[in-house]
Amino acid sequence: MGYLILGSGGLGTALAHELAARGEEWLLAGRQSPRGLDPTCYFPLQEVDPLSFEALFTLYDGASLPTVVINTIGLLSDLNHMPERRVEEVTPQWLCESLQANAWPQLALGANLSRLMGPSSRLWLCSLSDLAGSLGGLESNGQGASRYSYRMSKAALNMGARILAAEWVDRFPGAGVITVHPGLMDTPMQQPFKSELDRTLLQDPTQVAPRLLDLIAGLTPAQSGSFLDLQGQPLPW
Ligand SMILES: NC(=O)c1ccc[n+]([C@@H]2O[C@H](COP(=O)([O-])OP(=O)(O)OC[C@H]3O[C@@H](n4cnc5c(N)ncnc54)[C@H](OP(=O)(O)O)[C@@H]3O)[C@@H](O)[C@H]2O)c1
Repeated sequence: MGYLILGSGGLGTALAHELAARGEEWLLAGRQSPRGLDPTCYFPLQEVDPLSFEALFTLYDGASLPTVVINTIGLLSDLNHMPERRVEEVTPQWLCESLQANAWPQLALGANLSRLMGPSSRLWLCSLSDLAGSLGGLESNGQGASRYSYRMSKAALNMGARILAAEWVDRFPGAGVITVHPGLMDTPMQQPFKSELDRTLLQDPTQVAPRLLDLIAGLTPAQSGSFLDLQGQPLPW
């Protein structure tokens, strides 16, 4: 079983360490090579644009595809942007950047995999989403900052997963798509907000990584198109 991990942040790096410890075959594509791991298992994916994904997938031309692809790329803030607290703070530029980072990579992966898969290919594509992007879960997630661009782009990610799962049922019946809400994690993404968070709810990504891998290993085809928590329970869209 070969794994392709997208994103070298807190969870992506923890997944690579867990896979190395399990003796699995893995490749991590991200902006930074994970420390303490075999550098030959790293691919520098600096941008989330079509050409960068095409370059990554040249590695699989004529080679076996991974059987699990985990997309951990996600964007909540950067040096110039904090999550919006009021609608007046929303800009089309940051909304587009958020969509490109949070929703587009899954479709880029879906397109490149579709190009290389055959009708009998077996594969899971899992993207990390967030309950904060759930329309049905809005009541339970409505507290605190509005986070328009992040939440809208995670909602778009979830919709993309459902559409892709439906497309693959006919084209690639052995290939499935899910999105997973990992819960709060103590990673660089939450660094600027740590003072606002209940620290007892912050999970160590090294604890989340094995749970996510075990969840994916136990998936059944009927679960394709689902939005799940780490226990494998369906979450509201
Ligand atoms: N942490 C949480 O509490 C939490 C809660 C719910 C859901 N999630 C989701 O879980 C996933 C993993 O998050 P994490 O906690 O591991 O966050 P993280 O440490 O910030 O990792 C996110 C990764 O995405 C990459 N990235 C962001 N924008 C990019 C861009 N435009 N181009 C290329 N790479 C880009 C980052 O690269 P750089 O490091 O180089 O910027 C980083 O490798 C994300 O999808 C996140 O939304 C996290």
